[in-house]
Amino acid sequence: MSLKGVVLAGGLGKRLYPLTKITNKHLLPVYNKPMIYYPIQTLVDAGIQDILIVTGGNHAGEFLRLLGNGAQFGLVHLNYTYQEGEGGIAQALGLARHFVGKDKVCVILGDNIIEKGIRDAVEEFRTEERGAKIMLKKVKDPERFGVAEFRDGKIVRIVEKPKQPKSDHVVTGIYMYDAGVFDIIRTLKPSRRGELEITDVNNEYLRRGMLSYSILKGWWTDSGTFDSLLYANNLVARLEGS
Ligand code: DAU
Repeated sequence: MSLKGVVLAGGLGKRLYPLTKITNKHLLPVYNKPMIYYPIQTLVDAGIQDILIVTGGNHAGEFLRLLGNGAQFGLVHLNYTYQEGEGGIAQALGLARHFVGKDKVCVILGDNIIEKGIRDAVEEFRTEERGAKIMLKKVKDPERFGVAEFRDGKIVRIVEKPKQPKSDHVVTGIYMYDAGVFDIIRTLKPSRRGELEITDVNNEYLRRGMLSYSILKGWWTDSGTFDSLLYANNLVARLEGS
């Protein structure tokens, strides 16, 4: 069984409007590269070669122009698919069903940027026959994310953007699943914000006793708001700038 990679770059990026009026959020610059370069590189650095990009919106064609077959990343081929509208992260992942088949999948959100790699966690997950693995990170503003609640060192629940977070450990946009994820996605109902939530998927694995986690090393940020986009630019500039 091999491990495939999926980068989710659908959605309309409304929180960055008007920056996203004439282009897709994931094509915006983060220091010296388009945003989407970073999550692709994260997968490639973790040894994942077989990658699907899920795009959407009015500018999906630009991804092909920018990325082609992924030669920039040492790849020989890239796969693409298109998400109509913005039905949520889990809906976007659902489009990867045929691509993943009976294999396992490592999913990364197109606006998540990390300092270090995920290779160790990916290697660990490769050895597991089934289940799911999420990557957690301690942050100062957990209310912006999916928050993990713990009892005796074990996750008991994940709550999406709680007003009063029960911990400061949040679920980053890096998820690993067995092929059973697609059956779970089929059972989901839209949340209050009208989306199929990845947090509901993770809670279902938790309920089945099949969710493990690792703590991500180094810094991590999303880049989907003005402040986090600026923050991401500065972090990458410090890392890569002269
Ligand atoms: O960044 C990590 C957080 O990502 C998690 O902690 C949350 O649990 C998770 O729900 C998500 O939070 P956001 O609500 O901030 O995600 P956002 O809507 O900004 O979407 C993040 C990426 O997911 C986006 O850059 C592209 C992809 N996406 C999103 C939607 C809504 C899609 O591909 N299609 C979609 O319909």
